Amino acid sequence: MNGCIAPPMTRVSPIDRRARLLAWYDQNRRDLPWRGPPGVRVDPYRVWLSEIMLQQTTVPHATPYFLTFVARWPAVGDLAAADDADVMAAWAGLGYYARARNLLACARVVARDLGGAFPANEAALRALPGIGDYTAAAIGAIAFDLPTNVVDGNVERVMARLLAVEAPLPAAKPALRRLAAEFVTTHRPGDWAQALMDLGSGVCRPKSPVCPLCPLNSDCAARRLDATHVYPRRTPKAASPHRHGVVYRMIRHGQVALVRRPPRGLLGGMLAMPTTAWRAEPFSTTEALAAAPTVADWIETGTVDHVFTHFSLTLRVFAADVVAGDGAPWVWAPLSEALVSIPSLFAKALK
Ligand code: ADE
Repeated sequence: MNGCIAPPMTRVSPIDRRARLLAWYDQNRRDLPWRGPPGVRVDPYRVWLSEIMLQQTTVPHATPYFLTFVARWPAVGDLAAADDADVMAAWAGLGYYARARNLLACARVVARDLGGAFPANEAALRALPGIGDYTAAAIGAIAFDLPTNVVDGNVERVMARLLAVEAPLPAAKPALRRLAAEFVTTHRPGDWAQALMDLGSGVCRPKSPVCPLCPLNSDCAARRLDATHVYPRRTPKAASPHRHGVVYRMIRHGQVALVRRPPRGLLGGMLAMPTTAWRAEPFSTTEALAAAPTVADWIETGTVDHVFTHFSLTLRVFAADVVAGDGAPWVWAPLSEALVSIPSLFAKALK
């Protein structure tokens, strides 16, 4: 399936594979705004910010946000001093808003308690808000050149294919992590971590790997078996639940009514349009009208669908022009401003 069949494998040491992947990285590394030139360390603030943004977000999607954040808040102290609402609004569209709340909490701990310096230590990084195992390892390697084991889905896939690991994910995670650890040394650990990231995202891709470009293709077990599509094996997932709700698009003098969502929970702390609770059963029109935030001539304008990590959602959209509304719990925002500052689910409903 991947062009010519690879020659039979001989035993290959991790050192040899490391050398080939690092040489490939030196020639083919992605030029990303949070990376410095080869061998040059980057400000840990930029590394941390990029890693938080890249949790559950792709590089192309996160990049403009990263550039906006570093232009507006060039150092951790600037971010720590920012207004929560400004940071939440700048984060809008990146999703997973708990990350933005943790981002601020972390910036404030680093600025206030750590003199503005991120710790050069994996365990101390992990103790900061919003930094889990993966992110601590990535910051440790990239910002401080610590020999950490940086394992995400890309690295799991590379290991599973390279060594044709038969155990399925997610149970195979610890085994794949152990295999990845065999490649970690004190020689260029930050570059090694990023080389694996680039290989996983650009070459050893989930659907159509570009094996002819891979520096490890001559001894990849999955390729030799002509079975890259089989690895990593996976245990089939249970279907995620579907929920329903109603969202209300209330317009007054070209402004839309927004409410601040409760601080905890999904999209917590974000400004958003008023909605009903989200539940398993669809809402009837009578229910939707009864739950409307004010009396008005409500008209249904359509539905929006959205996929969250653990469930998918369909919202019926009801719209009305209103004249009253002062003194209510709403924040009135110009449409153009609201469109770029509310979570994308709501921006879809507003459009
Ligand atoms: N994904 C997660 N961290 C990354 C990084 N530093 N560079 C590219 N992709 C990544």
